[in-house]
Amino acid sequence: MGALLSSLRATYQSIVSALALLQDLSTEFNRALHRASESPGVPTPNSEVPYWLSSPPFPELVNASSPSLCEVADVAIIGSGIAGAAIARSLLHIEPFGTGAANKVVVFEARQLCSGATGRNGGHIKVAPYEVFARYSNAYGKERAVALVRFQLRHLQALIDVCRHEKIDIAEAREVETVDLFLDGGAFDKAIDDVKEMKKWLPEVEINIWDKDQAQQKFGVNSSVVGVLSYQAGAIWAYRFVASIWDGLLKRFPSQLSIETNTPVESISLSKSGPIGFPYAVRTSRGIVYTRHVVHATNAFASYLVPGLRDKIVGAKAHMSSQRPGQQFPDLAGARSWSVVCGGAFDYVTQRPPSSGGAQGDLMIGGGFMRSLKQGIDQVGLYDDGGSLDALTVAHIAGIFPSIFSPKWGEGASLKQVWPGIIALTGDSLPFVGRLDTRFTGRKVQGLEEGANDTNSYGEWIAAGWSGEGMVWAWLAGTALGIMIAGKESEELAEVAGRPGGTLDSWLPKELLASAKRLRSADISRLASQL
Ligand SMILES: Cc1cc2nc3c(=O)[nH]c(=O)nc-3n(C[C@H](O)[C@H](O)[C@H](O)COP(=O)(O)OP(=O)(O)OC[C@H]3O[C@@H](n4cnc5c(N)ncnc54)[C@H](O)[C@@H]3O)c2cc1C
Ligand SMILES: *[C@@H]1O[C@H](CO)[C@@H](O)[C@H](O)[C@H]1NC(C)=O
Ligand SMILES: *[C@@H]1O[C@H](CO)[C@@H](O)[C@H](O)[C@H]1NC(C)=O
Ligand SMILES: *[C@@H]1O[C@H](CO)[C@@H](O)[C@H](O)[C@H]1NC(C)=O
Repeated sequence: MGALLSSLRATYQSIVSALALLQDLSTEFNRALHRASESPGVPTPNSEVPYWLSSPPFPELVNASSPSLCEVADVAIIGSGIAGAAIARSLLHIEPFGTGAANKVVVFEARQLCSGATGRNGGHIKVAPYEVFARYSNAYGKERAVALVRFQLRHLQALIDVCRHEKIDIAEAREVETVDLFLDGGAFDKAIDDVKEMKKWLPEVEINIWDKDQAQQKFGVNSSVVGVLSYQAGAIWAYRFVASIWDGLLKRFPSQLSIETNTPVESISLSKSGPIGFPYAVRTSRGIVYTRHVVHATNAFASYLVPGLRDKIVGAKAHMSSQRPGQQFPDLAGARSWSVVCGGAFDYVTQRPPSSGGAQGDLMIGGGFMRSLKQGIDQVGLYDDGGSLDALTVAHIAGIFPSIFSPKWGEGASLKQVWPGIIALTGDSLPFVGRLDTRFTGRKVQGLEEGANDTNSYGEWIAAGWSGEGMVWAWLAGTALGIMIAGKESEELAEVAGRPGGTLDSWLPKELLASAKRLRSADISRLASQL
């Protein structure tokens, strides 16, 4: 079991290994599977305001809504997190994006703007390239693994470019030197092997290897760290980034875009009485809007409105914290990030840049997923991010940094806030991006399938299921989805900030597409058998 554990890394892998370990404990496993088969419902109402959402830069957007809902819209986007924002921006920047007269995009958000995972996360823009390359190689072969890793890696530059181009300084988007701190030698040796193999296929990725002594000197850790890998990653204040994107879009497209917060979508049906050309009736708490396209940017909650996705995409409760470092903690001015790799789990830590007065920035520490009573399995299928915290997980994220940095930690540290958030797992570990087959939605527009000549005029779409790594999936996947909805996937588009140039298939890995064949075999129960 030790060998099994040490061969696994990544937040996501920790969940996989949790599932595998507990498969024998069939009660717990079956409970999780049972939860995965049930509807997540709509997100619970906002509770405590997490760190990232306090003093919002655009207070008028927090509860944004129109006096009354529009009657029709070309596109209804459900969800106002990073995926919804990327989709809307991509669509609106391609004009005109369809044939409808209204040319209108409406965004429905159950709660306050961007108050889901994007507003509650770690903001770590990080791929562990050696780890994902090994995992994708097993599932899809080396060449496809290269395409998938490159797609994830290019998020760092894309997000930084958008911030530069749109002057979003408040998002603190930045490159960092990231360090993976290994607490167990077997895992470190396996990682070094993975790095060597990866370098053959991804020569542009630079990874430095540090032994125990070097790690202590260079990174200030103590002898509990047996080795370190360092490479490039990034960090961002995701809520501020997304709120700034929405603000920019509303200013530039005031008559085309409306955002309706505190407006949960309760159901979607095919309209019999609605206006011609607008086949979907989107029923919300404030009334019905008829649309041509419905876009599911609801991440963990997607299967509430798409019942065919139950068992394919499931939520899990994750924990995040803000902490003051001890006085001895090395001050890297926000330019370093960390992951602690232990027992198959990956904690993730960034540090805010220093305050204007020069004081060390807060540490943002999340993870500890496998530290719950049932090694994370009891967190799968939970959807309440206002609910109670898991005490053992909190003990881990509160204690891990002082334990490995002591004595370079010191007095004066404090745990400022801890909050939960909901991540989304999929049965084959990749996100779902693209048109949703009507067999999963159960809503088939007459004439759409059989010889329809304008399938571009209607449809339901999805961009969700990031396995807790949305910062390195959701922006470009959402951008790709906007291009698909606009019917421009085979056009050579120019490269602009945050959007690669060329035809879509030149940069979007096809493994992400939500084909019926893929979805059918992406059951959550496979997470355990994938090992
Ligand atoms: C604690 C935590 C830490 C994380 N840390 C990191 C990290 O460091 N790096 C990283 O890459 N990723 C991290 N993630 C994952 C990352 O935050 C997510 O993958 C990403 O933000 C998801 O974006 P999204 O737009 O798809 O979903 P969300 O931001 O969750 O947005 C979906 C929105 O849909 C709304 N919604 C749902 N159902 C309905 C409905 N029926 N009607 C109307 N609205 C609805 C929700 O209210 C929500 O606002 C973390 C996640 C958590 C929870
Ligand atoms: C948003 O609405 C809630 C509930 O009415 C309120 O408590 C909160 O102060 C509002 N926030 C802003 C920034 O307007
Ligand atoms: C590392 O920290 C632990 C406590 O967390 C301590 O027992 C140990 O002595 C430290 N090692 C060094 C080299 O300081
Ligand atoms: C296909 O195109 C024709 C002519 O443009 C049009 O009359 C017909 O309604 C279209 N069919 C569908 C299913 O949209």
